[in-house]
Amino acid sequence: MMKKALIVLAAAASVSALFAADTPKTNLGKLYEDDFLIGVALPQQVTSERDKARAELAASQFNCLTPENLMKWDGMEPQEGQFNWGPADDLVKYAQKNKIKIHGHTLIWHSQTPRWVFEDKDGKPASRDLVLKRMKNHIETIMKRYKGKIDAWDVVNEAFNEDGTLRNSQWKRIVGDDFIEKAFEFARAADPSAKLVYNDYNADTPSKRDGIAKLAKELKKKGLIDAVGMQGHYLIDFPSSKQIEEAIKVYADAGVMVMVTEMDIDVLPRSNGRVTADISQTQEYQEKNNPYTKGLPDDVSKKLADRYVDIFKVFLKHSKVMYSVTVWGLDDGTSWLNGFPVRGRTNHPLLFDRQLKAKPCYDALVNLKQPNAARSAKTGKMP
Ligand code: XIL
Repeated sequence: MMKKALIVLAAAASVSALFAADTPKTNLGKLYEDDFLIGVALPQQVTSERDKARAELAASQFNCLTPENLMKWDGMEPQEGQFNWGPADDLVKYAQKNKIKIHGHTLIWHSQTPRWVFEDKDGKPASRDLVLKRMKNHIETIMKRYKGKIDAWDVVNEAFNEDGTLRNSQWKRIVGDDFIEKAFEFARAADPSAKLVYNDYNADTPSKRDGIAKLAKELKKKGLIDAVGMQGHYLIDFPSSKQIEEAIKVYADAGVMVMVTEMDIDVLPRSNGRVTADISQTQEYQEKNNPYTKGLPDDVSKKLADRYVDIFKVFLKHSKVMYSVTVWGLDDGTSWLNGFPVRGRTNHPLLFDRQLKAKPCYDALVNLKQPNAARSAKTGKMP
């Protein structure tokens, strides 16, 4: 009996030793703290600490966090004037306890916004004045509640088309082109200490980039913006790190800081070309476009690590203007890219795998800052 218990104990100890060897001892945020913040997007399950394992891992690695969904309009104010504070309060508590900065996401967006925002009481299109009143109330109420507690806010998300013109959203149609400036005005007044961000995907595409930079310059002149957020939903082979670098330079020249707000690297084939994050652009499932259901082959894993490193080299080179780099999700198992742009695939875009173990791309980013410190890819052990 005794012997059996001992064997069980020994087995448990060796399992936990194995696990310990696989748990990185490095803190990524700390490692890059002289360069920029290292952030992570987290779902409510984690920021409420119901998912303890992920809450602990995130707190041990990152010094900034973005709510993946819960601070979007439909989460915060599902009905007019009825704010849902619980999940956001929990998030602030979790962040404060762990000394993690918060990147608020997002105040004004065309997506995940309830219909009532754009309708009057008879269900007809609301007037400019009514929509502006709602916009002001939404921004003020949320930003004032968390004044001084949320470091940066995505004030407006995804307002541009790929050609650099403004997206024909309900915001633009009802309020007019000045909806962006209005949102930034309301935000600046509500919490003058928060960094205000314009955020978009494909923000490195030259035509779109130039449209965003023009806006950034105008808002900067009026003292209304602090940073452009490049979402950074990259593909394994697109865009080039040179194109990313060019964009950072253009935004820096416009006088704002750069934040990479939603980085991930999609390793799966795309059949729609290079649309990277328009959440309305989904595609049909095809077996051939889901090749890594049993894990990422070593050569692709290496390619992914090299790609992370190439892009991070650019960020490090421009660290003076880079405020933060945030990955869109903690681990491959919870990445939105398992469901976008095709539902039901197995993607591998992030730094931790489905067992919450650090991947070679994580080690590569450690290695980039601290050669020789990364765990040996072969043994999984720290030196
Ligand atoms: C995504 C979330 O990750 C998903 O969980 C949700 O279903 C849809 O939105 N650009 C953004 C993010 O600004 O808010 C999106 O997040 C990804 C694209």
